Amino acid sequence: MIHASPDRSPAWAALKALAEDAQKQRIASLFDADAERATKYAGNAAGLFVDYSKNLITDDVLDNLISLARDVGLEQGRDDMVAGEKINSTETRAVLHVALRDTAQGKYHVDGEDIMPLIQGELVRMRDFCDRIHTGSFTGHTGKPLKTVVNIGIGGSDLGPVMVTEALAPYHIEGRKTHFVSNVDGAHLASTLASIDPETTLFVIASKTFTTQETMTNAHSARDWFLDTGAGQADIAKHFIALSTNAAAVSKFGIDTANMFRFWDWVGGRYSLWSVIGMPIALQTGFDNFARLLAGAAQMDRHFEIADLRDNLPVLLALIGIWNRNFLDISAHAVLPYDQSLHRLPAYLQQADMESNGKSVMRDGMATSHATGPVIFGEPGTNGQHAFYQLIHQGTDIISSDFIAPAISHHERGDHHRKLLANFLAQPEALMLGKSLEQVVAELSASGRSDAEIENLAPHRKFPGNRPTTAILMQKLTPETLGALIALYEHKIFCQGHIWGINSFDQWGVELGKVLAGNILTELGDLGETKPACTQHDSSTNALVDRINQMRKDTRPQD
Ligand code: F6P
Repeated sequence: MIHASPDRSPAWAALKALAEDAQKQRIASLFDADAERATKYAGNAAGLFVDYSKNLITDDVLDNLISLARDVGLEQGRDDMVAGEKINSTETRAVLHVALRDTAQGKYHVDGEDIMPLIQGELVRMRDFCDRIHTGSFTGHTGKPLKTVVNIGIGGSDLGPVMVTEALAPYHIEGRKTHFVSNVDGAHLASTLASIDPETTLFVIASKTFTTQETMTNAHSARDWFLDTGAGQADIAKHFIALSTNAAAVSKFGIDTANMFRFWDWVGGRYSLWSVIGMPIALQTGFDNFARLLAGAAQMDRHFEIADLRDNLPVLLALIGIWNRNFLDISAHAVLPYDQSLHRLPAYLQQADMESNGKSVMRDGMATSHATGPVIFGEPGTNGQHAFYQLIHQGTDIISSDFIAPAISHHERGDHHRKLLANFLAQPEALMLGKSLEQVVAELSASGRSDAEIENLAPHRKFPGNRPTTAILMQKLTPETLGALIALYEHKIFCQGHIWGINSFDQWGVELGKVLAGNILTELGDLGETKPACTQHDSSTNALVDRINQMRKDTRPQD
C-alpha cells in the first residue's frame, strides 16, 4: 500500500526509534567498528564519486529509509515524472526537464504529443544561432560582430545560466564576455551598461512568463538605453532576442518572434537551464560544450532511472537528507564547493531546493505533520572556512554539509590545488572527529600553559564533532561532470519532495509579496513628489512608506 504521508509508513516509526539510538552514537566509532564502512557507503555514477559514510547512518537506518521510499511509491513517482504525468498538480503541468537532455526518440509525451521533435527543433535553432554569432554572420546594426551578451532574467532565468557560465570559465570562447543582470535595483543594469558597447552587444531577455517585474523593467530600460545610443526601432531585431514560453508578450515587447527561442510549460523555471534558457551558456562556451553539459546530465538521469534504490546516488542523498532533517532534527544544510568556479552553486541550489521543497502543504491539500526542506546556504571553500564554519564546528545547531571538489584543477598552479584539497579533506574529518576536552587539556599542558590558563581556555577549544558530511568528488570539473552534478541535486530534490508528499514544482509562496509590492508601488512617490499620508497598511508599513516619501521629496544633494 502506498502512503501519501511518509509518517504513515511503518518505516517512519522504526526510524524514529533508530534516531534515539543514533544520537548516542559517534560517527567516528562507526568507522572503528567497521573497516569496510568507507567503501560500503559510497558510490559512483556519471563521473561522480559520492562518499556518504561520514553521516550518522547504519545498515538498519538505510534499510528503513529505503522501505520508507518504497512505502511512499518513490519509484512510481519517478516513472510518472518521466512518463509526462501532470505531477505538478496545482498547475496541471508535466515535469520533463529530463527530456531536454535526452536523445531517446518517442520516449517523452505531453498530452499524447511526442515532445522530442519540439526539443530537437529548438536545439537546432539554438545551435544555428550560436554559429551565426560565433562566425560573425549575425552582426549588430552597424555590421560589427556581437561579442558581448547581456542576459536579463531572474530566478531560474538567471541562476542556472550564471552558475554554469561561471563554472565553465575554462571553456569560455576567447574574446567573448557575458554579463548577467537580474536585480531590479537600477545599479545592476547601470554597472553593466557602463561597461559595454551597444554596437557589439546582444541582449538576451530570458523569462519563462515574460511578465516578471524585474526582468521586464530591466529589459525596457536596456531597450531605451540602446535606442538612446542612436539605434533605430528596426535595429532592435539585431540586438535583442528572447528566451520564453510566451510568444504574445515577446512580440508585444517588440522582439520579432523569429528572434525568440522557445520552451514549454512542462519545464519549471528553476529546472530550465537545459532548455533555450541555456543560450548564454552556449554563446559563451560554444554550443558543443552546452551539448556536453546536457550529455552529462543525461548520464545521471539514466543512473537515476535504472539503478536500484540502494545504489542510486540521488535517492541516497535524498534519504540521508531526510534522515538528517526529520529524524536528527537538522534544519540547515551547507553546500561547500572546493572550486572557485562553482561559487554560484550554493545560490543556484538555494532556489532549486528551497523554492521546490519549502512547502508545508501536502499534494492532497493537508498540512504536513513533518518537517520539509532545510535552509540551504554555502560558499566556496576555503572562503567559507574563514567566515561561517565556526558555527558549523562549535555552534549550538548541528548542520549537515556537502563537500564538493575536483581532484584535478583547471589551474594547477604550484601547490594551490593540493592545499585546497587538503582543506576539502580536513574539514569533514574535523567535523566528524571533533576534539575532546581531554585532548585539549593534554595539548595545552604539553605547550606549557598554566593550570589556570588551561581551565580558562580548554572549554573554548574543544570541538563536539559528530557533524554529518557527504563528499562529492570528480576527477575534473568538465561540462559533463557539471551536468551530472546538477542533475544529481535535481533528482535529490525530486525524491525528497516526493517522500515528503509535497509538490516540488510550484512556487505559490512567491506570489503574495509580488501582489503587495504592486499595491505599494502606487503609494511611493517620485523624487520631489508630495504624496498623501499612507493609510492602507499596518502602522509600521504606513509609517515606513511615509518616511520614504518624505526622504524622496527632499531632493537637495545628500552626502
Ligand atoms: O520567483 C518566482 C519565479 O517564478 C521563479 O520560479 C522563476 O524562476 C522566476 O520567478 C523568474 O520567472 P520568469 O522566468 O518567468 O521571468
